[in-house]
Amino acid sequence: MARNIPKDFIDNIIDKANIVDIIGNYIKLEKKGNDYWARCPFHSEKTSSFSVSENKQFFHCFGCGAHGNAIGFIMDHSNKTYPEAIETIANTLGLEIPRDKESSKIYEARKILQNSLNDAKDNFENQLKNSTKAISYLKQRNITGETAKIFNIGYAANDYQVLNKFLSATYTEKNLLEAGLIVKKDKNSYDKFRDRIMFPIHDQTGNIIAFGGRILNEDKEKSLAKYMNSPETALFSKKKVLYNLHLAKKEKKSRDFLYVVEGYMDVIKLHQAGIKNSVATLGTAVTQENLLQCFKYTKEIICCFDGDNAGKKAAWQGVENIMPVIKDGDAISFVFLPENCDPDNIIENGGEKLWNENINKKISIEEFIYLKYSKEFDLSTAAGKTQYLQKIDALLKKLNAKILKQIIMEYLKEKVGVKYISKKNKLEEPVQHKKYKTTSPLQKAVLILLHNPNVNINEELFNDTRIKGNKGIILMKSIVELIKKNNSIKLGAILESFRDDEKIYVSLEKISRIPITDYEYPDKELNACLCLAIRNTLKSKLADIDPSDLKEFSSVQREIREIEEKSKNY
Ligand code: GTP
Ligand code: MN
Repeated sequence: MARNIPKDFIDNIIDKANIVDIIGNYIKLEKKGNDYWARCPFHSEKTSSFSVSENKQFFHCFGCGAHGNAIGFIMDHSNKTYPEAIETIANTLGLEIPRDKESSKIYEARKILQNSLNDAKDNFENQLKNSTKAISYLKQRNITGETAKIFNIGYAANDYQVLNKFLSATYTEKNLLEAGLIVKKDKNSYDKFRDRIMFPIHDQTGNIIAFGGRILNEDKEKSLAKYMNSPETALFSKKKVLYNLHLAKKEKKSRDFLYVVEGYMDVIKLHQAGIKNSVATLGTAVTQENLLQCFKYTKEIICCFDGDNAGKKAAWQGVENIMPVIKDGDAISFVFLPENCDPDNIIENGGEKLWNENINKKISIEEFIYLKYSKEFDLSTAAGKTQYLQKIDALLKKLNAKILKQIIMEYLKEKVGVKYISKKNKLEEPVQHKKYKTTSPLQKAVLILLHNPNVNINEELFNDTRIKGNKGIILMKSIVELIKKNNSIKLGAILESFRDDEKIYVSLEKISRIPITDYEYPDKELNACLCLAIRNTLKSKLADIDPSDLKEFSSVQREIREIEEKSKNY
Protein backbone atom coordinates (compact mmCIF):
# COMPACT_ATOMS: atom_id res chain seq x y z
CA MET A 1 0.00 0.00 0.00
CA ALA A 2 0.99 3.53 -0.57
CA ARG A 3 1.61 4.20 3.08
CA ASN A 4 3.45 7.45 2.66
CA ILE A 5 1.19 9.01 0.03
CA PRO A 6 -1.55 11.09 1.64
CA LYS A 7 -5.03 9.70 1.05
CA ASP A 8 -6.41 13.05 -0.07
CA PHE A 9 -3.68 13.27 -2.67
CA ILE A 10 -4.73 9.89 -4.07
CA ASP A 11 -8.38 10.98 -4.06
CA ASN A 12 -7.42 14.14 -5.88
CA ILE A 13 -5.50 12.18 -8.49
CA ILE A 14 -8.38 9.81 -9.12
CA ASP A 15 -10.67 12.76 -9.39
CA LYS A 16 -8.47 14.67 -11.85
CA ALA A 17 -7.04 11.87 -13.98
CA ASN A 18 -9.06 10.92 -17.00
CA ILE A 19 -8.82 7.21 -17.68
CA VAL A 20 -9.11 7.87 -21.42
CA ASP A 21 -6.01 10.07 -21.32
CA ILE A 22 -4.12 7.64 -19.12
CA ILE A 23 -4.85 4.52 -21.15
CA GLY A 24 -4.44 6.58 -24.33
CA ASN A 25 -0.80 7.01 -23.33
CA TYR A 26 -0.31 3.28 -23.74
CA ILE A 27 -2.65 2.15 -26.48
CA LYS A 28 -4.56 3.74 -29.30
CA LEU A 29 -8.20 4.24 -28.40
CA GLU A 30 -10.97 4.86 -30.84
CA LYS A 31 -14.18 6.58 -29.90
CA LYS A 32 -17.34 4.70 -30.82
CA GLY A 33 -20.59 5.81 -29.27
CA ASN A 34 -20.04 6.80 -25.67
CA ASP A 35 -16.99 4.69 -25.08
CA TYR A 36 -13.47 4.25 -26.37
CA TRP A 37 -12.36 0.97 -27.89
CA ALA A 38 -9.13 -0.79 -28.70
CA ARG A 39 -7.70 -4.21 -29.20
CA CYS A 40 -7.12 -5.57 -25.76
CA PRO A 41 -3.56 -5.16 -24.48
CA PHE A 42 -4.04 -8.10 -22.11
CA HIS A 43 -4.79 -10.76 -24.66
CA SER A 44 -4.20 -11.24 -28.35
CA GLU A 45 -7.18 -10.44 -30.54
CA LYS A 46 -8.10 -9.13 -33.96
CA THR A 47 -11.21 -7.20 -33.14
CA SER A 48 -11.60 -4.58 -30.45
CA SER A 49 -13.25 -5.94 -27.30
CA PHE A 50 -11.44 -3.61 -24.93
CA SER A 51 -13.59 -0.70 -23.86
CA VAL A 52 -12.84 2.38 -21.81
CA SER A 53 -15.67 4.39 -20.34
CA GLU A 54 -14.99 8.04 -19.67
CA ASN A 55 -18.25 8.37 -17.77
CA LYS A 56 -17.46 5.54 -15.44
CA GLN A 57 -13.69 6.00 -15.39
CA PHE A 58 -13.39 2.28 -15.91
CA PHE A 59 -12.05 -0.14 -18.49
CA HIS A 60 -13.37 -3.55 -19.34
CA CYS A 61 -12.44 -6.20 -21.88
CA PHE A 62 -15.36 -8.25 -23.13
CA GLY A 63 -12.91 -10.81 -24.47
CA CYS A 64 -10.73 -11.71 -21.51
CA GLY A 65 -12.55 -9.97 -18.67
CA ALA A 66 -9.69 -7.66 -17.74
CA HIS A 67 -11.09 -4.59 -16.03
CA GLY A 68 -10.40 -1.86 -13.54
CA ASN A 69 -9.70 1.82 -13.09
CA ALA A 70 -6.76 3.93 -14.26
CA ILE A 71 -4.55 2.78 -11.41
CA GLY A 72 -5.39 -0.86 -12.07
CA PHE A 73 -4.62 -0.45 -15.74
CA ILE A 74 -1.14 0.87 -15.11
CA MET A 75 -0.46 -1.80 -12.50
CA ASP A 76 -1.49 -4.61 -14.86
CA HIS A 77 -0.20 -3.17 -18.07
CA SER A 78 3.20 -2.02 -16.88
CA ASN A 79 3.60 -4.42 -14.02
CA LYS A 80 3.78 -1.66 -11.48
CA THR A 81 3.05 -1.59 -7.78
CA TYR A 82 0.24 0.55 -6.43
CA PRO A 83 2.44 3.46 -5.31
CA GLU A 84 4.30 3.32 -8.62
CA ALA A 85 1.03 3.52 -10.52
CA ILE A 86 -0.05 6.52 -8.44
CA GLU A 87 3.25 8.14 -9.20
CA THR A 88 2.85 7.53 -12.93
CA ILE A 89 -0.54 9.20 -12.95
CA ALA A 90 0.71 12.08 -10.81
CA ASN A 91 3.49 12.60 -13.32
CA THR A 92 1.13 12.74 -16.28
CA LEU A 93 -0.90 15.33 -14.41
CA GLY A 94 2.26 17.27 -13.65
CA LEU A 95 1.71 16.76 -9.93
CA GLU A 96 4.48 16.11 -7.50
CA ILE A 97 3.65 13.58 -4.81
CA PRO A 98 3.97 15.49 -1.55
CA ARG A 99 5.64 12.62 0.25
CA ASP A 100 7.89 14.78 2.36
CA LYS A 101 8.53 18.39 3.22
CA GLU A 102 10.87 18.84 0.29
CA SER A 103 8.34 17.95 -2.39
CA SER A 104 5.55 19.83 -0.67
CA LYS A 105 7.78 22.86 -1.02
CA ILE A 106 8.23 22.26 -4.77
CA TYR A 107 4.48 21.92 -5.10
CA GLU A 108 3.97 25.26 -3.38
CA ALA A 109 6.70 26.94 -5.40
CA ARG A 110 5.06 25.89 -8.68
CA LYS A 111 1.80 27.36 -7.50
CA ILE A 112 3.47 30.69 -6.83
CA LEU A 113 4.98 30.75 -10.32
CA GLN A 114 1.61 29.94 -11.81
CA ASN A 115 -0.04 32.78 -9.91
CA SER A 116 2.60 35.27 -10.95
CA LEU A 117 2.11 34.36 -14.61
CA ASN A 118 -1.61 34.78 -14.22
CA ASP A 119 -1.17 38.20 -12.68
CA ALA A 120 1.24 39.10 -15.46
CA LYS A 121 -1.41 38.15 -18.02
CA ASP A 122 -3.93 40.48 -16.35
CA ASN A 123 -1.36 43.24 -16.35
CA PHE A 124 -0.51 42.76 -20.04
CA GLU A 125 -4.20 42.81 -20.92
CA ASN A 126 -4.60 46.10 -19.07
CA GLN A 127 -1.56 47.54 -20.77
CA LEU A 128 -3.08 46.64 -24.11
CA LYS A 129 -6.24 48.55 -23.29
CA ASN A 130 -4.14 51.65 -22.67
CA SER A 131 -1.98 51.44 -25.75
CA THR A 132 -3.37 52.86 -28.97
CA LYS A 133 -0.20 51.73 -30.69
CA ALA A 134 -0.68 48.09 -29.73
CA ILE A 135 -4.40 48.16 -30.44
CA SER A 136 -3.83 49.55 -33.90
CA TYR A 137 -1.21 46.87 -34.57
CA LEU A 138 -3.76 44.16 -33.79
CA LYS A 139 -6.35 45.95 -35.90
CA GLN A 140 -3.94 46.15 -38.78
CA ARG A 141 -3.53 42.39 -38.49
CA ASN A 142 -7.30 42.01 -38.52
CA ILE A 143 -7.59 40.62 -35.03
CA THR A 144 -10.92 41.52 -33.45
CA GLY A 145 -11.32 42.55 -29.84
CA GLU A 146 -13.29 39.40 -29.23
CA THR A 147 -10.48 37.22 -30.54
CA ALA A 148 -7.92 39.13 -28.48
CA LYS A 149 -10.00 38.38 -25.42
CA ILE A 150 -10.32 34.66 -26.19
CA PHE A 151 -6.55 34.33 -26.50
CA ASN A 152 -5.84 36.77 -23.65
CA ILE A 153 -3.63 38.81 -25.94
CA GLY A 154 -1.86 41.64 -24.13
CA TYR A 155 0.87 44.21 -24.52
CA ALA A 156 4.09 44.87 -22.65
CA ALA A 157 4.92 48.55 -22.90
CA ASN A 158 8.30 49.90 -23.85
CA ASP A 159 9.38 50.29 -20.25
CA TYR A 160 11.80 48.39 -18.05
CA GLN A 161 9.79 48.40 -14.86
CA VAL A 162 6.00 48.28 -15.46
CA LEU A 163 5.53 44.62 -14.74
CA ASN A 164 8.38 44.35 -12.26
CA LYS A 165 6.91 47.15 -10.17
CA PHE A 166 3.40 45.77 -10.38
CA LEU A 167 4.32 42.21 -9.41
CA SER A 168 6.91 43.12 -6.77
CA ALA A 169 4.07 44.02 -4.47
CA THR A 170 3.09 40.36 -4.33
CA TYR A 171 6.12 38.33 -5.36
CA THR A 172 9.80 38.18 -4.53
CA GLU A 173 12.46 38.91 -7.11
CA LYS A 174 13.37 35.24 -6.99
CA ASN A 175 9.77 34.25 -7.85
CA LEU A 176 9.70 36.54 -10.87
CA LEU A 177 13.10 35.42 -12.11
CA GLU A 178 12.00 31.82 -11.83
CA ALA A 179 8.81 32.59 -13.71
CA GLY A 180 10.90 34.11 -16.48
CA LEU A 181 9.08 37.42 -16.26
CA ILE A 182 12.09 39.55 -15.36
CA VAL A 183 15.81 39.34 -16.01
CA LYS A 184 18.65 40.47 -13.82
CA LYS A 185 21.86 42.15 -14.78
CA ASP A 186 24.39 43.59 -12.34
CA LYS A 187 22.06 43.52 -9.39
CA ASN A 188 19.28 45.24 -11.33
CA SER A 189 16.20 43.40 -12.39
CA TYR A 190 13.91 44.58 -15.16
CA ASP A 191 11.03 43.38 -17.38
CA LYS A 192 11.96 40.69 -19.86
CA PHE A 193 9.28 41.63 -22.39
CA ARG A 194 9.20 45.20 -23.63
CA ASP A 195 7.23 46.78 -26.44
CA ARG A 196 5.80 43.45 -27.49
CA ILE A 197 2.36 42.02 -28.18
CA MET A 198 2.00 39.30 -25.55
CA PHE A 199 0.55 35.85 -26.13
CA PRO A 200 0.03 33.74 -23.00
CA ILE A 201 0.94 30.10 -23.52
CA HIS A 202 -1.18 27.57 -21.66
CA ASP A 203 -0.61 23.96 -20.76
CA GLN A 204 -3.23 21.46 -21.85
CA THR A 205 -5.25 21.95 -18.71
CA GLY A 206 -5.45 25.70 -19.32
CA ASN A 207 -2.88 27.03 -16.83
CA ILE A 208 -0.61 29.79 -18.09
CA ILE A 209 2.96 28.51 -18.14
CA ALA A 210 4.79 31.00 -20.33
CA PHE A 211 4.49 33.91 -22.77
CA GLY A 212 5.42 34.59 -26.33
CA GLY A 213 6.00 38.21 -27.27
CA ARG A 214 6.03 39.72 -30.76
CA ILE A 215 7.61 43.01 -31.74
CA LEU A 216 5.25 45.48 -33.37
CA ASN A 217 7.45 46.59 -36.18
CA GLU A 218 10.14 44.62 -37.85
CA ASP A 219 12.99 47.07 -37.71
CA LYS A 220 15.95 45.59 -39.52
CA GLU A 221 18.41 48.02 -37.95
CA LYS A 222 17.56 47.04 -34.43
CA SER A 223 17.76 43.33 -35.30
CA LEU A 224 15.43 42.33 -32.51
CA ALA A 225 14.10 38.79 -32.58
CA LYS A 226 10.58 38.90 -34.04
CA TYR A 227 9.30 36.61 -31.35
CA MET A 228 10.63 36.05 -27.90
CA ASN A 229 9.47 33.24 -25.63
CA SER A 230 9.74 32.85 -21.90
CA PRO A 231 12.88 30.93 -20.94
CA GLU A 232 12.61 27.29 -19.94
CA THR A 233 11.23 27.23 -16.41
CA ALA A 234 9.93 24.70 -13.91
CA LEU A 235 6.58 25.04 -15.68
CA PHE A 236 7.59 25.54 -19.28
CA SER A 237 9.46 23.36 -21.70
CA LYS A 238 9.18 24.66 -25.24
CA LYS A 239 9.33 21.35 -26.99
CA LYS A 240 6.58 19.86 -24.87
CA VAL A 241 4.02 22.57 -25.43
CA LEU A 242 1.47 23.10 -28.15
CA TYR A 243 -0.04 26.54 -28.30
CA ASN A 244 -3.86 26.46 -27.98
CA LEU A 245 -4.18 22.74 -27.20
CA HIS A 246 -6.25 23.60 -24.11
CA LEU A 247 -8.92 25.24 -26.28
CA ALA A 248 -8.61 23.07 -29.39
CA LYS A 249 -9.12 19.85 -27.43
CA LYS A 250 -12.59 21.03 -26.45
CA GLU A 251 -13.72 21.29 -30.05
CA LYS A 252 -15.78 18.41 -31.36
CA LYS A 253 -13.99 18.52 -34.69
CA SER A 254 -10.68 17.90 -32.96
CA ARG A 255 -11.74 14.32 -32.33
CA ASP A 256 -11.46 13.71 -36.07
CA PHE A 257 -8.44 15.82 -36.88
CA LEU A 258 -6.22 18.49 -35.47
CA TYR A 259 -4.17 20.97 -37.50
CA VAL A 260 -0.62 21.52 -36.36
CA VAL A 261 0.65 24.84 -37.67
CA GLU A 262 3.79 26.89 -37.11
CA GLY A 263 2.78 30.17 -35.52
CA TYR A 264 0.63 31.74 -32.82
CA MET A 265 -0.85 34.13 -35.35
CA ASP A 266 -1.85 31.21 -37.57
CA VAL A 267 -3.79 29.55 -34.77
CA ILE A 268 -5.46 32.82 -33.85
CA LYS A 269 -6.48 33.72 -37.37
CA LEU A 270 -7.76 30.21 -38.08
CA HIS A 271 -9.82 30.39 -34.91
CA GLN A 272 -11.25 33.73 -35.93
CA ALA A 273 -12.26 32.19 -39.25
CA GLY A 274 -14.15 29.46 -37.39
CA ILE A 275 -11.43 26.81 -37.68
CA LYS A 276 -10.86 26.15 -34.02
CA ASN A 277 -9.13 22.79 -34.10
CA SER A 278 -5.61 24.01 -34.61
CA VAL A 279 -2.51 24.09 -32.41
CA ALA A 280 0.98 25.47 -33.00
CA THR A 281 4.43 24.28 -32.13
CA LEU A 282 6.57 27.04 -30.68
CA GLY A 283 8.87 27.49 -33.62
CA THR A 284 10.22 23.95 -33.42
CA ALA A 285 9.69 20.85 -35.55
CA VAL A 286 6.95 18.52 -34.28
CA THR A 287 8.30 16.60 -31.30
CA GLN A 288 7.44 13.23 -29.77
CA GLU A 289 5.76 14.96 -26.87
CA ASN A 290 3.64 16.98 -29.29
CA LEU A 291 2.48 13.86 -31.09
CA LEU A 292 1.63 11.96 -27.93
CA GLN A 293 -0.39 14.90 -26.67
CA CYS A 294 -2.29 15.35 -29.92
CA PHE A 295 -3.28 11.74 -30.25
CA LYS A 296 -4.93 11.81 -26.86
CA TYR A 297 -7.57 13.96 -28.46
CA THR A 298 -7.67 13.16 -32.14
CA LYS A 299 -7.57 10.47 -34.79
CA GLU A 300 -5.52 12.42 -37.29
CA ILE A 301 -3.02 15.22 -37.19
CA ILE A 302 -2.58 17.37 -40.24
CA CYS A 303 0.75 19.16 -40.14
CA CYS A 304 0.66 22.39 -42.14
CA PHE A 305 3.83 23.96 -43.39
CA ASP A 306 4.95 26.85 -45.42
CA GLY A 307 5.76 25.46 -48.89
CA ASP A 308 9.26 26.89 -48.97
CA ASN A 309 12.40 24.91 -48.22
CA ALA A 310 12.49 25.85 -44.54
CA GLY A 311 8.94 24.52 -44.22
CA LYS A 312 9.81 21.25 -45.95
CA LYS A 313 12.87 20.87 -43.78
CA ALA A 314 10.85 21.43 -40.63
CA ALA A 315 8.27 18.90 -41.84
CA TRP A 316 10.89 16.27 -42.48
CA GLN A 317 12.56 16.93 -39.16
CA GLY A 318 9.15 16.27 -37.65
CA VAL A 319 8.82 12.92 -39.43
CA GLU A 320 12.19 11.79 -38.13
CA ASN A 321 11.41 12.98 -34.62
CA ILE A 322 8.12 11.22 -34.27
CA MET A 323 8.89 7.82 -35.84
CA PRO A 324 9.53 6.03 -32.52
CA VAL A 325 6.25 7.09 -30.94
CA ILE A 326 3.80 6.59 -33.81
CA LYS A 327 1.25 3.94 -32.90
CA ASP A 328 -0.78 1.74 -35.19
CA GLY A 329 -3.91 3.65 -36.02
CA ASP A 330 -2.34 7.11 -35.82
CA ALA A 331 -3.06 9.03 -38.99
CA ILE A 332 -0.54 11.71 -39.86
CA SER A 333 -0.67 13.82 -42.97
CA PHE A 334 1.05 16.87 -44.35
CA VAL A 335 -0.04 19.96 -46.16
CA PHE A 336 2.43 22.18 -47.93
CA LEU A 337 0.99 25.61 -48.46
CA PRO A 338 2.08 27.72 -51.43
CA GLU A 339 5.51 29.22 -51.04
CA ASN A 340 5.76 32.03 -48.49
CA CYS A 341 2.19 31.49 -47.42
CA ASP A 342 1.25 30.66 -43.88
CA PRO A 343 -2.25 29.81 -42.63
CA ASP A 344 -2.70 33.45 -41.61
CA ASN A 345 -2.11 34.56 -45.23
CA ILE A 346 -4.43 31.88 -46.57
CA ILE A 347 -7.24 33.06 -44.31
CA GLU A 348 -6.59 36.68 -45.26
CA ASN A 349 -6.64 35.81 -48.95
CA GLY A 350 -9.57 33.45 -49.18
CA GLY A 351 -10.99 32.53 -45.79
CA GLU A 352 -12.17 29.08 -44.89
CA LYS A 353 -12.84 28.14 -48.52
CA LEU A 354 -9.26 28.68 -49.63
CA TRP A 355 -8.05 26.96 -46.47
CA ASN A 356 -10.07 23.86 -47.27
CA GLU A 357 -8.84 23.85 -50.84
CA ASN A 358 -5.31 23.69 -49.51
CA ILE A 359 -6.13 21.07 -46.94
CA ASN A 360 -7.65 18.87 -49.61
CA LYS A 361 -4.18 18.58 -51.10
CA LYS A 362 -2.82 16.88 -48.01
CA ILE A 363 -0.50 13.94 -48.48
CA SER A 364 -0.02 10.92 -46.24
CA ILE A 365 3.16 10.23 -44.33
CA GLU A 366 4.14 7.45 -46.76
CA GLU A 367 3.64 9.75 -49.73
CA PHE A 368 5.81 12.32 -48.02
CA ILE A 369 8.56 9.75 -47.43
CA TYR A 370 8.37 8.73 -51.06
CA LEU A 371 8.55 12.34 -52.31
CA LYS A 372 11.59 12.95 -50.16
CA TYR A 373 13.60 9.81 -50.96
CA SER A 374 12.61 9.43 -54.60
CA LYS A 375 14.27 12.78 -55.25
CA GLU A 376 17.48 11.71 -53.57
CA PHE A 377 18.15 8.63 -55.69
CA ASP A 378 18.08 7.61 -59.33
CA LEU A 379 15.27 5.13 -59.21
CA SER A 380 15.76 3.97 -62.78
CA THR A 381 18.83 2.01 -61.73
CA ALA A 382 19.17 -1.02 -59.50
CA ALA A 383 21.78 0.76 -57.40
CA GLY A 384 19.49 3.75 -56.89
CA LYS A 385 16.61 1.52 -55.92
CA THR A 386 18.81 -0.32 -53.44
CA GLN A 387 19.95 2.90 -51.81
CA TYR A 388 16.38 4.07 -51.69
CA LEU A 389 15.31 0.87 -49.96
CA GLN A 390 18.23 1.03 -47.55
CA LYS A 391 17.27 4.55 -46.59
CA ILE A 392 13.68 3.46 -46.01
CA ASP A 393 14.77 0.50 -43.92
CA ALA A 394 16.86 2.77 -41.74
CA LEU A 395 13.99 5.21 -41.27
CA LEU A 396 11.37 2.57 -40.56
CA LYS A 397 13.62 0.76 -38.10
CA LYS A 398 12.64 3.48 -35.66
CA LEU A 399 8.96 2.86 -36.25
CA ASN A 400 7.44 0.56 -33.64
CA ALA A 401 3.92 0.42 -35.08
CA LYS A 402 3.96 -3.02 -36.68
CA ILE A 403 0.98 -2.80 -38.98
CA LEU A 404 1.73 0.71 -40.17
CA LYS A 405 5.33 -0.27 -40.76
CA GLN A 406 4.28 -3.08 -43.04
CA ILE A 407 1.83 -0.91 -44.94
CA ILE A 408 4.35 1.89 -45.46
CA MET A 409 7.01 -0.60 -46.45
CA GLU A 410 4.78 -2.24 -48.98
CA TYR A 411 3.70 1.10 -50.41
CA LEU A 412 7.23 2.39 -50.77
CA LYS A 413 8.49 -0.82 -52.35
CA GLU A 414 5.62 -1.03 -54.78
CA LYS A 415 6.28 2.56 -55.80
CA VAL A 416 9.62 1.53 -57.28
CA GLY A 417 8.43 -1.81 -58.58
CA VAL A 418 9.98 -4.04 -55.97
CA LYS A 419 7.79 -6.94 -55.07
CA TYR A 420 7.42 -7.36 -51.40
CA ILE A 421 6.88 -10.88 -50.19
CA SER A 422 5.08 -10.42 -46.96
CA LYS A 423 5.47 -13.02 -44.29
CA LYS A 424 2.14 -14.57 -43.65
CA ASN A 425 0.74 -13.30 -40.45
CA LYS A 426 0.35 -16.03 -37.92
CA LEU A 427 -3.31 -16.57 -37.34
CA GLU A 428 -4.22 -15.40 -33.92
CA GLU A 429 -5.71 -17.80 -31.46
CA PRO A 430 -9.45 -17.34 -31.32
CA VAL A 431 -10.46 -15.61 -28.14
CA GLN A 432 -12.19 -17.57 -25.49
CA HIS A 433 -15.12 -15.32 -24.79
CA LYS A 434 -15.70 -16.06 -21.18
CA LYS A 435 -19.17 -15.31 -20.05
CA TYR A 436 -19.41 -13.38 -16.86
CA LYS A 437 -22.86 -13.23 -15.41
CA THR A 438 -24.43 -12.14 -12.20
CA THR A 439 -25.31 -15.06 -9.99
CA SER A 440 -27.89 -13.42 -7.74
CA PRO A 441 -30.35 -10.53 -7.86
CA LEU A 442 -28.39 -8.62 -5.25
CA GLN A 443 -25.21 -9.08 -7.17
CA LYS A 444 -27.00 -7.61 -10.14
CA ALA A 445 -28.23 -4.75 -7.95
CA VAL A 446 -24.67 -4.03 -6.84
CA LEU A 447 -23.57 -4.09 -10.47
CA ILE A 448 -26.27 -1.61 -11.46
CA LEU A 449 -25.41 0.65 -8.54
CA LEU A 450 -21.71 0.58 -9.42
CA HIS A 451 -22.45 1.67 -12.95
CA ASN A 452 -25.18 4.13 -12.02
CA PRO A 453 -24.21 5.75 -8.73
CA ASN A 454 -27.10 8.19 -8.88
CA VAL A 455 -29.78 5.58 -9.37
CA ASN A 456 -33.00 6.04 -7.39
CA ILE A 457 -33.24 3.23 -4.88
CA ASN A 458 -36.59 2.52 -3.27
CA GLU A 459 -35.87 3.13 0.41
CA GLU A 460 -38.57 0.79 1.63
CA LEU A 461 -37.21 -2.14 -0.34
CA PHE A 462 -33.62 -1.24 0.44
CA ASN A 463 -34.32 -1.23 4.19
CA ASP A 464 -36.62 -4.23 4.16
CA THR A 465 -35.91 -6.24 7.32
CA ARG A 466 -36.24 -9.54 5.49
CA ILE A 467 -33.01 -8.96 3.58
CA LYS A 468 -31.30 -6.77 6.15
CA GLY A 469 -28.49 -9.15 7.03
CA ASN A 470 -27.75 -10.08 3.44
CA LYS A 471 -24.13 -9.53 2.39
CA GLY A 472 -25.19 -7.86 -0.83
CA ILE A 473 -27.33 -5.34 1.00
CA ILE A 474 -24.54 -4.55 3.45
CA LEU A 475 -22.20 -4.01 0.55
CA MET A 476 -24.70 -1.78 -1.21
CA LYS A 477 -25.17 0.27 1.93
CA SER A 478 -21.48 1.05 2.21
CA ILE A 479 -21.43 2.03 -1.46
CA VAL A 480 -24.46 4.27 -0.95
CA GLU A 481 -22.70 5.92 2.01
CA LEU A 482 -19.78 6.70 -0.26
CA ILE A 483 -22.02 8.16 -2.94
CA LYS A 484 -23.77 10.33 -0.38
CA LYS A 485 -20.43 11.90 0.49
CA ASN A 486 -19.51 12.52 -3.14
CA ASN A 487 -22.38 12.28 -5.57
CA SER A 488 -20.19 12.65 -8.64
CA ILE A 489 -18.14 9.59 -7.76
CA LYS A 490 -17.65 7.10 -10.58
CA LEU A 491 -17.20 3.35 -10.73
CA GLY A 492 -13.40 3.59 -10.90
CA ALA A 493 -13.24 5.70 -7.76
CA ILE A 494 -15.79 3.61 -5.89
CA LEU A 495 -13.68 0.55 -6.38
CA GLU A 496 -10.60 2.44 -5.34
CA SER A 497 -12.18 3.49 -2.03
CA PHE A 498 -12.43 -0.13 -0.98
CA ARG A 499 -8.91 -1.11 -1.88
CA ASP A 500 -7.87 -1.34 1.76
CA ASP A 501 -10.81 -3.58 2.68
CA GLU A 502 -9.71 -6.77 1.04
CA LYS A 503 -12.93 -8.76 1.37
CA ILE A 504 -15.13 -6.07 -0.09
CA TYR A 505 -12.56 -5.17 -2.69
CA VAL A 506 -12.36 -8.72 -3.99
CA SER A 507 -16.11 -9.12 -4.31
CA LEU A 508 -16.58 -5.69 -5.85
CA GLU A 509 -13.84 -6.41 -8.29
CA LYS A 510 -15.53 -9.63 -9.28
CA ILE A 511 -18.83 -7.90 -9.79
CA SER A 512 -17.36 -4.99 -11.70
CA ARG A 513 -15.96 -7.39 -14.26
CA ILE A 514 -19.44 -8.45 -15.31
CA PRO A 515 -20.60 -6.76 -18.48
CA ILE A 516 -23.63 -4.61 -17.90
CA THR A 517 -26.47 -3.81 -20.22
CA ASP A 518 -27.11 -0.10 -20.56
CA TYR A 519 -30.55 -0.12 -19.03
CA GLU A 520 -32.92 2.62 -19.99
CA TYR A 521 -34.32 2.65 -16.46
CA PRO A 522 -31.57 1.41 -14.16
CA ASP A 523 -33.62 2.30 -11.06
CA LYS A 524 -36.45 0.03 -12.16
CA GLU A 525 -34.00 -2.79 -12.80
CA LEU A 526 -32.35 -2.30 -9.44
CA ASN A 527 -35.58 -2.14 -7.48
CA ALA A 528 -36.81 -5.22 -9.30
CA CYS A 529 -33.66 -6.97 -8.10
CA LEU A 530 -34.44 -5.98 -4.53
CA CYS A 531 -37.94 -7.44 -4.87
CA LEU A 532 -36.49 -10.59 -6.29
CA ALA A 533 -34.00 -10.86 -3.45
CA ILE A 534 -36.82 -10.54 -0.92
CA ARG A 535 -38.84 -13.13 -2.79
CA ASN A 536 -35.90 -15.54 -2.87
CA THR A 537 -35.36 -15.12 0.85
CA LEU A 538 -39.01 -15.88 1.46
CA LYS A 539 -38.90 -18.90 -0.85
CA SER A 540 -36.05 -20.48 1.06
CA LYS A 541 -37.80 -19.66 4.30
CA LEU A 542 -40.85 -21.45 2.93
CA ALA A 543 -38.80 -24.50 2.09
CA ASP A 544 -37.71 -24.74 5.72
CA ILE A 545 -41.20 -24.54 7.16
CA ASP A 546 -42.90 -27.69 8.19
CA PRO A 547 -45.95 -27.77 5.86
CA SER A 548 -48.03 -28.95 8.78
CA ASP A 549 -47.54 -25.52 10.31
CA LEU A 550 -50.30 -24.22 8.10
CA LYS A 551 -50.50 -20.77 9.63
CA GLU A 552 -46.84 -20.00 9.20
CA PHE A 553 -46.82 -21.61 5.75
CA SER A 554 -49.68 -19.58 4.37
CA SER A 555 -48.40 -16.36 5.88
CA VAL A 556 -45.08 -16.73 4.09
CA GLN A 557 -46.94 -17.67 0.93
CA ARG A 558 -48.94 -14.47 1.22
CA GLU A 559 -45.74 -12.43 1.67
CA ILE A 560 -44.39 -14.01 -1.48
CA ARG A 561 -47.50 -13.11 -3.44
CA GLU A 562 -47.33 -9.55 -2.15
CA ILE A 563 -43.73 -9.02 -3.11
CA GLU A 564 -44.37 -10.58 -6.51
CA GLU A 565 -47.23 -8.17 -6.96
CA LYS A 566 -45.00 -5.25 -5.95
CA SER A 567 -42.26 -6.28 -8.32
CA LYS A 568 -44.66 -5.77 -11.19
CA ASN A 569 -44.20 -2.03 -10.65
CA TYR A 570 -40.63 -2.37 -11.84
P1 GTP B 1 3.82 36.70 -37.90
O1 GTP B 1 4.99 37.23 -38.63
O2 GTP B 1 3.43 37.53 -36.74
O3 GTP B 1 2.68 36.34 -38.78
O4 GTP B 1 4.25 35.39 -37.20
P2 GTP B 1 4.31 33.96 -37.78
O5 GTP B 1 3.59 33.11 -36.82
O6 GTP B 1 3.92 33.91 -39.20
O7 GTP B 1 5.85 33.74 -37.63
P3 GTP B 1 6.81 32.79 -38.38
O8 GTP B 1 6.13 31.95 -39.39
O9 GTP B 1 7.94 33.67 -38.80
O10 GTP B 1 7.28 31.88 -37.18
C1 GTP B 1 6.51 30.82 -36.67
C2 GTP B 1 6.76 30.65 -35.20
O11 GTP B 1 8.14 30.51 -34.97
C3 GTP B 1 6.35 31.85 -34.38
O12 GTP B 1 4.98 31.80 -34.02
C4 GTP B 1 7.24 31.70 -33.18
O13 GTP B 1 6.74 30.72 -32.27
C5 GTP B 1 8.52 31.17 -33.80
N1 GTP B 1 9.44 32.27 -34.12
C6 GTP B 1 9.47 33.04 -35.22
N2 GTP B 1 10.45 33.95 -35.15
C7 GTP B 1 11.07 33.74 -33.99
C8 GTP B 1 12.17 34.37 -33.33
O14 GTP B 1 12.77 35.33 -33.81
N3 GTP B 1 12.53 33.86 -32.11
C9 GTP B 1 11.88 32.81 -31.54
N4 GTP B 1 12.29 32.36 -30.35
N5 GTP B 1 10.85 32.21 -32.14
C10 GTP B 1 10.43 32.66 -33.34
MN1 MN C 1 2.55 34.85 -40.25
